[in-house]
Parts: sequence; C-alpha cells; structure tokens
Amino acid sequence: MTEFRKWTLAKHPSGMPSADCFALESFTPDAPSDGEVLIRTHYFSLDPGMRGRLSGDSYAAGLKIGDTIESAGIGEIIASKSERFAVGDMVMGGLGWTEALLHADRGLQKLDPAPFDDQVGMTATIGVLGVPGLTAWFGLQDLGQPQSGETLLISSAAGPVGASCGQIGKTLGLTVIGIAGGAEKCAYLSDLGFDAVIDYKAEDNLTKAITAAAPDGVDIYFDNVGGAMLDAAILNMKPKGRIVVSGQVAEYNNETPTGIRQTTRFITHRLRMEGLVVYDYAKQFPAAQAAMAALIRDGKLAYKEDISTGIEDAPREYAALFAGANFGRRLIKTF
Ligand SMILES: NC(=O)c1ccc[n+]([C@@H]2O[C@H](COP(=O)([O-])OP(=O)(O)OC[C@H]3O[C@@H](n4cnc5c(N)ncnc54)[C@H](OP(=O)(O)O)[C@@H]3O)[C@@H](O)[C@H]2O)c1
Repeated sequence: MTEFRKWTLAKHPSGMPSADCFALESFTPDAPSDGEVLIRTHYFSLDPGMRGRLSGDSYAAGLKIGDTIESAGIGEIIASKSERFAVGDMVMGGLGWTEALLHADRGLQKLDPAPFDDQVGMTATIGVLGVPGLTAWFGLQDLGQPQSGETLLISSAAGPVGASCGQIGKTLGLTVIGIAGGAEKCAYLSDLGFDAVIDYKAEDNLTKAITAAAPDGVDIYFDNVGGAMLDAAILNMKPKGRIVVSGQVAEYNNETPTGIRQTTRFITHRLRMEGLVVYDYAKQFPAAQAAMAALIRDGKLAYKEDISTGIEDAPREYAALFAGANFGRRLIKTF
C-alpha cells in the first residue's frame, strides 16, 4: 500500500500557531474493514475558525496532541468495504489535513452525480456551498433579520464568508459596505457590487471612515473580525441595530482578548448582538445550498478560491490567513 502524509497537532499553540505546533507524519493506511472506505484527498480547506480547536477553546471539541488537523475536504474513494460507496466515487466531508484517510462510510456526502461545471465547481462544496457560504446565509438572514433598504456592514468582506454575505445582502435589497485590507481586495468587492468599500489598512480612523461610508448609520454589522474594528462598527450602529458575531479573526491569536469597550451604545441605541454556530442550521443546509447554487448560476453570487498545491505548506499558509495573505477560500490541493 502507498505511503501518504498528514499533519498532526504536535503542541497546543499559544498566540500565533508556529511551525512547531504541527508535525508532518508519513503513514501507510490499513485496508478498509467492513463499513469503511479509504479516501485519497484531493483538496482540503484552511479555516481561521479552526484556531480555537488547536488550543481547545471552541464550541467543538479541541484537538489532542497527535490528532490529524481537521478541516473540510474533497476526496476519491480508492478502496471500499462499503455498500454505500464504490471505488472512484468522489466524496466531501471532514477529511482533515491529510493525503489519505480511512473513514467510516457515514458522515460523507457523495458528490457524483451532482452537476458540477465551470460555474459551480466541485470545490464549491467546501467553500461557497459549504461552511463559509452557509455561515453568511444563516448569519445574515436568521440573526441579521435584514429588511430591504437597510445598510449592512461586513468585516473581512473579501474572505469567503464576507464576500458571500455581501452578495446575498444585495439580493435582499440591502446597501452593502465592505471592510477589507488593501486596494486589490477592495476593488474586488466593488466588482462584486458592494455599494462602498473601506480599506482599513489605509485608514487612520476607522470609526470616521465607516461614518463617511454610512452617514445614516448601520442596521446590521456582520462581524468576522472583532477587536477594535467591532468597536468602530458599534459607534456607527443605528438604534435597534443587529450585530451578527460570525468570527473574531483579530482575537483568535490573542492570549488576552482586547474586548468590546463601547458597551454603553447597546443601551442608548438598543442594540442586539448574537453569536452564530453554523452547524445549528444543519437540517436546513440542503435548501440553502440549492438556493445559493441557483444564485451562482444566475450570476448573483460569485466566489473566489485561493488554491496551492502540496500538503507541506499547510501550516505556513494557515498562519498567513491571519496576515491577510489569502484572497478567497484558502484550499490546499494535495497532488
Ligand atoms: N460562526 C460560525 O459558525 C463560523 C463558521 C465559519 C467561519 N466563521 C468565521 O468567519 C470569519 C471569516 O472566515 P473565512 O473562512 O471567510 O475567512 P477569511 O475572512 O478569509 O479570514 C482570513 C482573513 O481575515 C482577515 N484578517 C485576518 N486578521 C485580521 C485582523 N487582525 N484584522 C482584520 N482582518 C483580519 C484577512 O483579510 P484582510 O486582508 O481583509 O485583512 C484575512 O485574509 C472567521 O472569523 C471565521 O472564524 C464562523
């Protein structure tokens, strides 16, 4: 049997995950037993939200030393002792940072014969039609409670969650303002139809920059970042505004979170702030995925992927997410 490689957790990180937190291990998988399949991974994702699981501070169970780093992936069945899957089937699931794995024949989604093409590629199932897109869909619509004509502000707007959120917001009749780092990401958001963009790296005073972009205030803040950006958004919220806490990418590597300072605004402006766990909506995923696939085919929901080849780079590329190095859904192609 061929030898494969996988990244495992070598040390729980404190602060930014350094290279020595991960170990690249070679292994030869066993042949599948009854009810198991052997999967050759084609793609896996790098997710900033995984950071909490590396140090055990998450809504999901933390990883133990020696565990394979978890992530969404797409792979091909290369050996099967399952009646559900045959050799050659393509599947999607939580495959992890690995070139191959033995997996029970449950908890995998068969991708064939779903209609993938140039418009909706198979990798969309771990991107715009996977957790990032679904986070945008349910966070905006269920927690954001948008009404046509309202103003939506999004941080990390050029990422897969943020860019999906903004485009979904446009289909709902919202005025959409995106915050992103750098001119290239901001130009991309304008091309997607965002009404205004703020390059936070070029602004001395983000609170004022948001006021300039939304002089009448913000109804919904879709927060992917937290930290000082969250305070700047709070100061621009309209009365009865809603803050959707999707992620806190500026806080994940902080030993001591910087926290919210502008809490008085919650009283004066009757604001509401609510956190999201996308898996709470799992039963509604198929309907949302069908609706988003239709938006893609109608040209209303574009998505961008940032793919590199080779499992070796995964830890470095993972840390780079926190420096804004990704431009789109960050995926590793394993061969
Ligand atoms: N609640 C849920 O169920 C759920 C599920 C999935 C994801 N999420 C969250 O959704 C958020 C977005 O995820 P994603 O997959 O779409 O990734 P993403 O937005 O592409 O995340 C990486 C980007 O975050 C921005 N960033 C990193 N550090 C920053 C900082 N200190 N200040 C401001 N921006 C910073 C960078 O963009 P710039 O270049 O623009 O700075 C970077 O490219 C994450 O916080 C993630 O944890 C939540």
